[in-house]
Amino acid sequence: MSRHAPAPAVVREVYDDVAPKYAGLYDGLGPLPHFYQTRLRLVVDLLRPLPRGLVLDIGSGPGIVGDHVRRLGFRCVAADASVGMARECYERTRGDVGRYVSAANATALPFGDGVFDVVMALGVLEYVDRPGRALSEFRRVVRPGGTLLVSLLNGTSPYRRLRDVRRRLGLDRDPIPPMLFTRTEAERHLRAAGFGVKQVTYFDMEMLPPGFADNHPRLAGRVATAWERTSSSVLLRWLASAFLINAAAL
Ligand SMILES: C[S@@+](CC[C@H](N)C(=O)[O-])C[C@H]1O[C@@H](n2cnc3c(N)ncnc32)[C@H](O)[C@@H]1O
Repeated sequence: MSRHAPAPAVVREVYDDVAPKYAGLYDGLGPLPHFYQTRLRLVVDLLRPLPRGLVLDIGSGPGIVGDHVRRLGFRCVAADASVGMARECYERTRGDVGRYVSAANATALPFGDGVFDVVMALGVLEYVDRPGRALSEFRRVVRPGGTLLVSLLNGTSPYRRLRDVRRRLGLDRDPIPPMLFTRTEAERHLRAAGFGVKQVTYFDMEMLPPGFADNHPRLAGRVATAWERTSSSVLLRWLASAFLINAAAL
C-alpha cells in the first residue's frame, strides 16, 4: 500500500499538465467517470440539507464540483496547489460573483480562522505530503460546528491494491501514486485535527481487475453499478474503492 505521498513539486507539475483535460474525466463511461459521477451525487446529497454559506473546495481541480456547489446556492472558494488547475477553474467561474479562485497549498491556507461553513477535500489528501497538517488547516479555517467532506481512496479495496501492485510491477505508469487510507487511519487523523466523524459512505464497487476494466469501460461501469445496488454495507466497507467522510468541526 502506498504509504508516502509523492513529492509536492511533482504533484503540481503532473496536475498542471493534465489540467486542460481533467474536466473530461467526469464524462462518458468507464471506471473513472463512474467514480467521479457517483462521488458527485453523494457530495451534492450531503450539501443539500445544509444552510447556504461559504464553501472551501481545496484541491478543487478545474472546479466541476464547484459548479454543483454554486447550483445549490452556496458561495464557493476554490483553491488548488496547481496553478494550471486554478487557471482552469478560473475560466469556469468567470463572471460569477459568488465564486472565487486561489492557487494555494492545503498545508498552508491563505484564509482567516473560521471563515468557511464547509470545507471539502475530494481526492486530495492522497497527494499531500503532510495530511495531518492539512487537516489541521481545514479545522482552522472552518467555523466551529461547520462541515468537512473528505474523500479518500480505500486502502482495503482489492481494486486499489491491485492498482498498486500493477504500478510496482511497471504494468501501469503513474508518476504520482496516491496514498491509500483505511477508515481507521482516516478517523484517527480527523480526530487529532479536531473533527468528529458523523458518517462514512463507501462508494465505487470496482470489481473487475484494473487492466481489464480500463479496456472494457461500459462493462466495468455496469458491473460496478450492479454491485453498488446489491451489496451489503459490510461488503462495501471492504471492497469499495473509496469512501467519503462527513465530519463536524468540534
Ligand atoms: C485527483 S485531483 C481532484 C480534483 C477535484 N477535487 C475533483 O475531485 O474533481 C487532486 C487535486 O488536488 C490538488 N492538490 C494536490 N496536492 C495539493 C495540495 N497540497 N494543496 C492543494 N491542492 C493539492 C491537485 O493539484 C489536483 O487538482
